[in-house]
Amino acid sequence: MSETKLTAVVLAAGKGTRMHSSRPKVLQTLLGEPMLHHVYAALTPSGMDVLTVIGHGADMVEAAFPERQGTFVEQTEQLGTGHALQVAWSAVEATGATHCLVINGDTPLITPEELEKLTSVAGTCDLAFMTITPRDPASFGRVVRDEDRRIRAIVEAKDFDMNVHGSVTGEVNAGIYLLRVDTVSALLDQLENSNASGEYYITDLVELAVSGGLVVTGVQCGDDPSLMGINSPRELITAENTLRRRIVEGLIDRGVLIHNPDTVIIGPDVTVEPGAEIFGHCEIYGTSFVAAGARLGSYNHITDASFAPGCEVRQFNHLEGAEVGEGVQVGPYSRLRPGAVLKKDARVGNFVEIKKSVVGEGSKASHLTYLGDTEIGAGANIGAGTITCNYDGKDKFKTEIRDGAFIGSNTALVAPVTVGRDALVGAGSTITKDVPDQGAAIARGKQVNLKRRLKKS
Ligand code: UD1
Ligand code: CA
Repeated sequence: MSETKLTAVVLAAGKGTRMHSSRPKVLQTLLGEPMLHHVYAALTPSGMDVLTVIGHGADMVEAAFPERQGTFVEQTEQLGTGHALQVAWSAVEATGATHCLVINGDTPLITPEELEKLTSVAGTCDLAFMTITPRDPASFGRVVRDEDRRIRAIVEAKDFDMNVHGSVTGEVNAGIYLLRVDTVSALLDQLENSNASGEYYITDLVELAVSGGLVVTGVQCGDDPSLMGINSPRELITAENTLRRRIVEGLIDRGVLIHNPDTVIIGPDVTVEPGAEIFGHCEIYGTSFVAAGARLGSYNHITDASFAPGCEVRQFNHLEGAEVGEGVQVGPYSRLRPGAVLKKDARVGNFVEIKKSVVGEGSKASHLTYLGDTEIGAGANIGAGTITCNYDGKDKFKTEIRDGAFIGSNTALVAPVTVGRDALVGAGSTITKDVPDQGAAIARGKQVNLKRRLKKS
């Protein structure tokens, strides 16, 4: 056969009634990422065009993937998987595809390698689909073969009748299909909805193809858990755990030291270099990056943060969008919010919250501090209880603390304000004016010692 050009159609319009959630099923998350994100990730390496059929909660699905604008096809009424494909078909043809890969949006564990297994048969048949033989065939569509093991049909669990369809083989449909566009096109209009659900089933294409004399192949994948579909909370949790294990074990095999791996959750887009060390009960999500030689202690919740070599994050921290530099020490019990940048050898200790601020090289904020919209130079010391007052109820203002400055404990720095190089601020001050380089500022009420009057008993 001449060259093949593939276009994928992801079926994602269903409500997911069995999830009992108002959120569309394909937006339910596994390891912090929506189900659909995982499906897209498996499709991306092949470089094929991807169309997505949406319907239930269409606005929410589109909003979750703004970068895919223009690739969504709306199925306003969800009349079944076959109907979903009919709705997308003209868009498929418009891509000039010779073959269409259809994938259920609720199959997030699929890998590029498995998809390759299916697409590699493109030149040999008109319709191929992946089959599995799980321990429990549950609600999967049953694969029916004849005496010669040739595919005859897929019959939905609800419609399966032993007397009509023969004995149960245990082989079921995984919901991932490869269709040859020019030959399967004509079958789409022949789908009917006279079945137990009253829906147009994509699976009926198989029987139509067989009776039309087309070549149909079932690509058998044993009991591969990557092909499991998710319909209920229990199935989601099982799949999430399978994926979690796959990621954590993969990292260990590549040289990441993960203690107590059963308690570590790492998202699919996180990068961890060999030589990093992670202790148990950690959750690391988003596009976080952990360099070789970084150590993450237990009970850390991390999203989109980066960790340079030699940094140490102790226990019980919440980090989001933070940049932790080389040799930095964090925690225990600190909160780093988006835009927190800790330069080489900085230290951030207990009950310190940092937002959109730079802590310069070797600078320390060891206890009970809030730093927001602040730029701290190198070698500065921020005393316990220092608060940058960055917000006046309407606007945010910046604080600058230059190299070598020393901020005494329990200081309020009312922004906009600058504390100069090597300047000193006395404990308990409320600083509202700039402090010059090498200056010493003190701004607190004077102490008066009076004689205490005691009641006579
Ligand atoms: C489907 C297959 C079944 C297979 C199983 C694999 C059919 C009729 N049955 O069953 O043979 O074993 O997947 O997991 O296809 N969707 C739409 N529009 C609709 C209906 C569904 O886009 O009108 C989407 C859903 O969002 C979902 C996918 O199609 O992502 C599959 O639908 P679902 O209802 O989950 O099908 P199953 O009953 O699991
Ligand atoms: Ca399903």
